[in-house]
Amino acid sequence: MDRRRFLHRIGGGAALASLAMMGRRGWADAAPGVPPPAQEEELGAEETRGSGPLRITKVRCILTAPQRIRLAIVRVETSEPGLYGIGCATFTQRIRTVETAVHEYLDPFLRGKDPSHIEDLWQAMFQSSYWRNGPVLTNALSGVDAALWDIKGKRAGMPVYELLGGKCRVACPVYGHAGGSDPKEAAESIQSFLDRGYRYVRCQVSVPGQAVYGARGDAKSPYEGHFAGRTFSPAAYQLAVPRMFAGVREILGPEVELLHDVHERLHPIQAIQLAKDLEPYRLFFLEDPFAPEDVGYFRHLRAQTSTPIAMGELFNNPNEFLDIIAGRLIDFIRCHISQIGGISAARKLAHLCDFFRVRTAWHGPGDTSPVGHAANCHVDLSSWNFGIQEATVFNDDSREVFPGTPEIRDGMLWVNEAPGLGIDLDEKAALRYPIRDDPPFDMHWGELRDVDGTIRRP
Ligand code: CO
Repeated sequence: MDRRRFLHRIGGGAALASLAMMGRRGWADAAPGVPPPAQEEELGAEETRGSGPLRITKVRCILTAPQRIRLAIVRVETSEPGLYGIGCATFTQRIRTVETAVHEYLDPFLRGKDPSHIEDLWQAMFQSSYWRNGPVLTNALSGVDAALWDIKGKRAGMPVYELLGGKCRVACPVYGHAGGSDPKEAAESIQSFLDRGYRYVRCQVSVPGQAVYGARGDAKSPYEGHFAGRTFSPAAYQLAVPRMFAGVREILGPEVELLHDVHERLHPIQAIQLAKDLEPYRLFFLEDPFAPEDVGYFRHLRAQTSTPIAMGELFNNPNEFLDIIAGRLIDFIRCHISQIGGISAARKLAHLCDFFRVRTAWHGPGDTSPVGHAANCHVDLSSWNFGIQEATVFNDDSREVFPGTPEIRDGMLWVNEAPGLGIDLDEKAALRYPIRDDPPFDMHWGELRDVDGTIRRP
């Protein structure tokens, strides 16, 4: 039978029959991509559950925005009735490109393949485009990868963290997002998290006249109309941050664990000075001092300060992080799991970091879906070198669309213990929160300019 006819055929009920046969023959005979022998009689779900090979019958990308942030979820359906998996593929800034990648390329590529061969499928998907490592294709691939782990967990009757080696901790400590324009306001914001049981809090600083990251800003430029509200001056920010942390430490004392995110906004030499200036305030970590393009600066930073460094939410290609991990130049890896290849890639990266005493701190903002947060949590639970998890507080609408969304209690993220990722997508509910193109996504999102109009990094 030629390949085309084979793929067509296994889309239907005949798939199950060949699957059961392959199950008895085992992996060695059932090499991926090699059609199984056809067999006419069909088997029921009970007869194939948990053992026999399956086939992927359909891969879809579902877009939804219950918290007004555009999310992309991949759903992988299988030949076993009722058995499917879901994964986060959210690249919110270019969401429809991921949808296209899933529907036009991964769906036809994956139909008919055995979803149990996660690593083999990962490698096959990764190489199938020849050019690779971009955020669009990697997010699409990651959504499939997490869905395949979800399917494997459901078949095994185990949460995914069990498949990854089991729990290293009961739950995952998280940090909240605080900020303020002066130390008193910032300390109150931090205290509100401590009162809710958080032990780690990130604190961002607003600077008068500046569009700052993660805190209220009131940016103004003398050249209104061109880039109103988008002005950022690195020097003013560089001075404001140590002043803020000095004041916050006076109010809250030395114990509370504080974090700060530079968001790659400074010139590299300014970031080195900032890290040195912050040393007396004992940060849990200072995040993204440099842009991924400037990773060569980490060697210079490390030589000058013991401020712990976190890096990586923008990383996409392993060559961006291999040297700084192996060189022991950072303390926390911050990758966005769906930007690097999903659970399969994150698990390898966590293990690599383990050898160099780099801890994990996976990216967990609102534009990681609840499905992505569940994936984060399963990797966190099973990684000895877990450091901290960034958490988003999900509203009731999100919980309605994503039954089983992980919960924050006692300052920790708790995963649902159901088999697989422990989370589902209610597609009817998702339809009530459609992606809105009116207004369209802000094409100037992240656009910052110096007072003279020079564009800066976000
Ligand atoms: Co960040």
